[in-house]
Amino acid sequence: MELRGRKALVTGASKGIGEAVARALAAEGVVLAISARRLEALEALADSVASSGAVRPSVLAVDLSKRGEAEALATRTLAALGNVDILINNAAAEGEGSYSEAGDGEHARELFETNYWSPMALTRALVPPMVARGSGAVVNVSSLGAITPIPRTGHYPSTKAALAIATEALRVELNGSGVQVVLVFPGLVNTPMYRAFKARPDLGIKMRRNFGFMPVGRATALAQLLVSALRRERRTIVYPRVYAATPLIPTLSRWVTRQLLAD
Ligand SMILES: NC(=O)c1ccc[n+]([C@@H]2O[C@H](COP(=O)([O-])OP(=O)(O)OC[C@H]3O[C@@H](n4cnc5c(N)ncnc54)[C@H](OP(=O)(O)O)[C@@H]3O)[C@@H](O)[C@H]2O)c1
Repeated sequence: MELRGRKALVTGASKGIGEAVARALAAEGVVLAISARRLEALEALADSVASSGAVRPSVLAVDLSKRGEAEALATRTLAALGNVDILINNAAAEGEGSYSEAGDGEHARELFETNYWSPMALTRALVPPMVARGSGAVVNVSSLGAITPIPRTGHYPSTKAALAIATEALRVELNGSGVQVVLVFPGLVNTPMYRAFKARPDLGIKMRRNFGFMPVGRATALAQLLVSALRRERRTIVYPRVYAATPLIPTLSRWVTRQLLAD
């Protein structure tokens, strides 16, 4: 895909991987709408992108944990950009506690709203016009936690597994449509989410000890891989590359994760 002049919506752009992806796409000449809850952080990013000489992104504050907000975001994005060529479903929240504690409580349901239903609502609103035009791209940021769940992250691994399998299904459904579907599996990437998780007081002894030894990547490097995947029509990104075998050998990966992280 030729990126210059394309129009993209990046969710979760106020920090971390989403911010890095927004900056990388803007540097390629992509015209952006950026969204997250924190308006000031988005405005600061838009100013920074504009001062680099790129088109100032449209800033759209939204809370994707609330049902209906994703659909409204799609409408606002179309009003701001005219059309959307690239949808980057990146925003997500981390869960807390064990599955037996989380159950089907309000927080668990909210997590699914943010991490799964909102990307699906954006897909329904923005992908059919791409299909009609015969070109576009959807990038869904899942997690290696979808394959090797890390304990005590609530329903987070399930939300990411649901997103990953939906992405695979979407890819089959859109085969031959001209719309590219990219599935991203970050492992550990040094962002506010990663740092908050590492600092949690409720991590087990083994997890606290071994987490520090596991390879951690950079958001800017992942963003460059994403740009290159869009250009070269790649389907899947696993980053850092040292975790590349995880989706290929899930049983072994889960065993290794249990040995390293479960008390
Ligand atoms: N970092 C890692 O090691 C890692 C590993 C595996 C997968 N991932 C995935 O990579 C993606 C980016 O993660 P990250 O590490 O960059 O996380 P992050 O630093 O916590 O950033 C998350 C982004 O999502 C936005 N967001 C969170 N809840 C939201 C809500 N309810 N409504 C709208 N926006 C919301 C946040 O903005 P506001 O707070 O301003 O709303 C922020 O821009 C996520 O899908 C994450 O699951 C990350």
